[in-house]
Amino acid sequence: MMLRLAVLFSALCASSCQLACPPIISPAKWGSRPAKCAAPLSKVPPGNVIIIHTSGSACHTQPECSELLRNIQVFHRDMKEWCDISYNFLIGEDGNVYEGRGWLLEGAHTYGYNDLSLGIAFIGNFTERSPNEAAWKTLKNLLTYAVQSGYLASDYLLMAHSDVSNTISPGKLIRETIKMWPHYKH
Ligand SMILES: *[C@@H]1O[C@H](CO)[C@@H](O)[C@H](O)[C@H]1NC(C)=O
Repeated sequence: MMLRLAVLFSALCASSCQLACPPIISPAKWGSRPAKCAAPLSKVPPGNVIIIHTSGSACHTQPECSELLRNIQVFHRDMKEWCDISYNFLIGEDGNVYEGRGWLLEGAHTYGYNDLSLGIAFIGNFTERSPNEAAWKTLKNLLTYAVQSGYLASDYLLMAHSDVSNTISPGKLIRETIKMWPHYKH
């Protein structure tokens, strides 16, 4: 019975999103307020991915992560007076992806790259530790899914925030890991 259900679910998953099936929590689900403004990426699909960390608290459950998202949105949208939460996507250590500005809009994370990239942020401060395995697995699935779905160029370049900006983000442990991935820009 369990096995049959598992087979059924994986078949459903395969038909709706080919191979990788990252759990993506929509803005409505995490309690987003509407963006104040929006601009499209200059090219869809974009050819760059920038990996960031939020540098604040980490989260391990969907309610906890959703609350952090709402706080980050207040900080970016209302205090910094940007259009919206600055990232395209965020990844929690609950293994979920949280949709910020999504696949098609430019973010406000990396000066000079906002209209050319997807900014993906691990939720937490990773200067002294690496994200957990659930978060890493979710990032890999999200990138695979993005290429399969045509939201990201298949020859995309992967960069750490600190490669293109004067920042500690995403921390050297994350940077050392993504440096070993095939899309990393050397
Ligand atoms: C992140 O962690 C480092 C090391 O523990 C700390 O020095 C830094 O202040 C933290 N950053 C923030 C924004 O809390």
